Amino acid sequence: MLTLSIIKADTGGFVGHSAVHPRAIEVAQKAIDGARGDLLIDGQVSYCGDDLSLIMTHTHGLEAERVHAFAWDVFLQTTEVAKERGLYGAGQDLLSDAFSGNLRGMGPGFAEIEIEERPSEPVLCFLGDKTEPGAWNLPLYKMFGDPFNTPGLVIDPKMHDGFLFEVHDLMDDKRILLDCPGEIYDLLLFIGSPSRYVIKRVISKSLGEVAAVTSTQRLSLMAGRYVGKDDPVMIVRTQSGLPAVGEALEPFSFPHTVAGAMRGSHHAPLMPVPLRDAHPARFDGPPRVVCLGYQLKDGRLNGPRDMFDDPSFDNARKMVNDIMDYLRRHGPFEPHRLPLDEMEYTTMPAVAEKLAKRWEATDVSVPTITGERTVRASAEDVE
Ligand code: F6R
Ligand code: MG
Ligand code: MG
Repeated sequence: MLTLSIIKADTGGFVGHSAVHPRAIEVAQKAIDGARGDLLIDGQVSYCGDDLSLIMTHTHGLEAERVHAFAWDVFLQTTEVAKERGLYGAGQDLLSDAFSGNLRGMGPGFAEIEIEERPSEPVLCFLGDKTEPGAWNLPLYKMFGDPFNTPGLVIDPKMHDGFLFEVHDLMDDKRILLDCPGEIYDLLLFIGSPSRYVIKRVISKSLGEVAAVTSTQRLSLMAGRYVGKDDPVMIVRTQSGLPAVGEALEPFSFPHTVAGAMRGSHHAPLMPVPLRDAHPARFDGPPRVVCLGYQLKDGRLNGPRDMFDDPSFDNARKMVNDIMDYLRRHGPFEPHRLPLDEMEYTTMPAVAEKLAKRWEATDVSVPTITGERTVRASAEDVE
């Protein structure tokens, strides 16, 4: 069995939270090159915005201690690069002091898939920045659940049986498996709330194979304080009974609105971009997604092809800019700003705390800034 792992972390931004420094990429690639042929079959370093991704193939299985320890060590090295250069937020996603067992709960995100490699194995690695794992819900639903997006669901007998969606509740740490298309309405009830319910895996019923997997974690819930959005990654296998490459890319022609962008606290559309444009700028956004395509062969990563480097996504990018113009004019108002319950996982509680003592019961008197009621309006005066 072959495992494809994407393990990612923000270990320091250049400049601000906009990009990974080239030196961090060099250092990480050197570490991967040193591990190739030993721990790893193959590996590449990539990025989206300020997040560094290690894309690796190996035979050690899911959440393997040696592979996760290796990634942790690479992130410590890139944190050193960040510290030396005074990059922004050095070591931002490394929430723990020391590595123990695997990366669960330690800050870095990961999506891993264990497969029996097919004679031709086309896979897509999606990397996002300035958003959260629930951002994959809508595109995954379209790829594997919506025949208007994926004609293969209707035309290809191997897809006709449908797919199982494994959904995680990030608040309660629970999961459920929903059998689609039969349970599509139940699925949509939950995944329509992407800040809490996140599709973790999609499994083909006829092939009995995992077709897609995402990184699911909430940094703010782990750290107990705001440490940035958990910029997500996702692996999608394609073709021969799974969505065709074009069916897996098609959902991104509609730039759906996700949570993220400035201070992780705003709704903004997700822009599909080539790697050269994967650097959020305006309003620390708009949130970006890149897609790296590979043909795996004996675990080797043939690629990447930069899948969104294509004029067919120009309209999506134009739409993003138009929607950004519209949303930005709301300033600090919802629905551009996230709703209150979401803001509770950011730095908002610290601001609210300062004013906590000044909230008082409402009555008919006119309040003053000193708290003394110099002007009193009784019910009779008002009459
Ligand atoms: C969003 C993000 C940025 C920062 C913003 C403020 O996920 O990382 O938008 O939240 O640049 O950063 P600080 O608080 O570090 O000055
Ligand atoms: Mg950052
Ligand atoms: Mg980021």
